[in-house]
Amino acid sequence: MATVLVVYASRDGQTRKVAERIANVLRVRRHVVEVLDAARAPSDLDLSRFQAVFVGSPVHAQGYLRPVVRFIQSHRTELERIPTLFFSVGLAILSKINDGRAQTMQIVDRLIAETGWHPRRIELVAGALPYTRYNFLIRFIMRRIVKKEGGDIDTSRNYEYTDWAAVDRFAAEFVGEVAANRPIEVPLAAPAANGPEARA
Ligand SMILES: Cc1cc2nc3c(=O)[nH]c(=O)nc-3n(C[C@H](O)[C@H](O)[C@H](O)COP(=O)(O)O)c2cc1C
Repeated sequence: MATVLVVYASRDGQTRKVAERIANVLRVRRHVVEVLDAARAPSDLDLSRFQAVFVGSPVHAQGYLRPVVRFIQSHRTELERIPTLFFSVGLAILSKINDGRAQTMQIVDRLIAETGWHPRRIELVAGALPYTRYNFLIRFIMRRIVKKEGGDIDTSRNYEYTDWAAVDRFAAEFVGEVAANRPIEVPLAAPAANGPEARA
């Protein structure tokens, strides 16, 4: 059993949904999970009690959300000591025209260069396109971009592209590996050498 933190930022709700999904998958496997909106992270948050940390942000205008970047910057030293997974939520990876995965990896590389944080694992997750929840301008811009990339353009409906089975898989796999590699905890009060436990 591991104690896990899932930190995220989200503008339109999809990354929050992914963060909550990760938490649920891990709780079912009896891990202890805390989910935290990076914008509300307490300044004195101590990461040393977590055995794994997931950090997630959507890509908005070719970059990650400020609260996540700030969170990483202020906890970089601790994050370098703990097994961490970064999940990037976006739409470019779905492009039928460009290599959206390579483009998104360049944004991840920029985050790494900007923060000096090296996540052990990186996952690119397809996000959502909630046209009906956008204001007129964003709906117009998104439709234009998505059309160029060969995507869905019916603005009267919302689209969700997240592969939930893939999210379940990487979350369980990552924490499974971390839990398996954890050093055995030495109890504070060790049993006496000649006690009954010593014979086990
Ligand atoms: C204004 C705006 C800009 C976006 N820019 C990008 C982008 O540069 N690259 C990308 O892959 N996705 C981009 N997206 C798609 C979002 O990453 C996607 O909708 C994601 O699901 C949003 O996550 P959230 O709901 O947690 O904010 C953009 C979406 C919006 C609304």
